[in-house]
Amino acid sequence: MEAEAAAATLNLECCLPVPSVQELAIQQPEAVPPRYIRDHVVGDHVITVNPSSNRVPLIDMNKLVDPDSQDAELRRLHSACKHWGLFQLINHGAADESLRNMKKQAQEFFDLPLEEKKRRGQKPGSLEGYGQAFVISEEQKLDWNDMIFLRTLPHEIRKLDLWPENPPKFRETLETYSEEMRKVATSLVRSMAMALELEAQEISDAYQEGLYEVRTTLYPPCPEPERVIGITQHADYSGITLLLECGNIPGLQVLKDGQWVTVIPVDGAIVANIGHIMEIMSNGIYKAPDHRAMVNRFKERRSITTFCFPSSSVKIGPAKEFTKSGTPPLYRTLTYAEYRHMFYNRRLDVSFIDMLKL
Ligand code: OGA
Ligand code: NI
Repeated sequence: MEAEAAAATLNLECCLPVPSVQELAIQQPEAVPPRYIRDHVVGDHVITVNPSSNRVPLIDMNKLVDPDSQDAELRRLHSACKHWGLFQLINHGAADESLRNMKKQAQEFFDLPLEEKKRRGQKPGSLEGYGQAFVISEEQKLDWNDMIFLRTLPHEIRKLDLWPENPPKFRETLETYSEEMRKVATSLVRSMAMALELEAQEISDAYQEGLYEVRTTLYPPCPEPERVIGITQHADYSGITLLLECGNIPGLQVLKDGQWVTVIPVDGAIVANIGHIMEIMSNGIYKAPDHRAMVNRFKERRSITTFCFPSSSVKIGPAKEFTKSGTPPLYRTLTYAEYRHMFYNRRLDVSFIDMLKL
């Protein structure tokens, strides 16, 4: 991390404007501008199909709720959350049509002229809107993506002036889509709570009343894919994250036992991962995995990530069931407002989760 960016404790919601990667890619440069080159971190990422032993786990939501298969599938879920922190979820119950529509709207939005997209551009002091995440210094290396980030639920937190009206169905599609993701999240955290032997109803209620943020990302083709990063290595600050691949182009990688494992898209599946809040709640039994995205030389990739948070009235801390028997809490307990403030005012060179450890 560049010294200047690292030292400053700037508010990370204050983005510096940077060029559209999509526009850059359209010009078909032979080489990538230096601000995107990351030879020192890439190199080890050659995308290969992983040996089957290294496939990310596949979890079946039908089996999680069917009494005949529930115990066995909960054990598989528990193991996936513990050892990977990331898995593919099939039979998740989200309406196919909603997913299809959302992918279409995402494509149509990014296909609009730049000037039209910029009408929903990020404003100073806010990460929401069209642009790039966490750019705080002119020297900082940049990710090879453009994105639009919107808080979608509950209704009161929406900043509708940043919601595209073009394509015309974008708003209603995003609204329906985030409600579908809320259903999936509520059901999935209920199963996680059962796997952890926690009070499942309380936790699923917290996500029913929770906060939802949707980030739609475009990774344009890149002439030197082995020298750039689509999204820098990070763990998510959500409770859980649900990622929808818009095609079958691999890009997402998860760090497992020190190795980058490529997530091969599975048709109809949603990729789910543990975020910091779930790590904290489980008192470290589940871990929020580091992950990143790589890019492709010829093909653009789009993904739609939904960050799912429990209700802002719920305290973020290890579940009482883990600590009442005398086990020490491994993480601090914070209000949502404190947690969010710490996240958006953190230093980019310090691990966020380490700041929350006791
Ligand atoms: C994210 C993320 C990965 C991807 O949005 O937090 O990790 O493959 N995205 O788009
Ligand atoms: Ni992420």
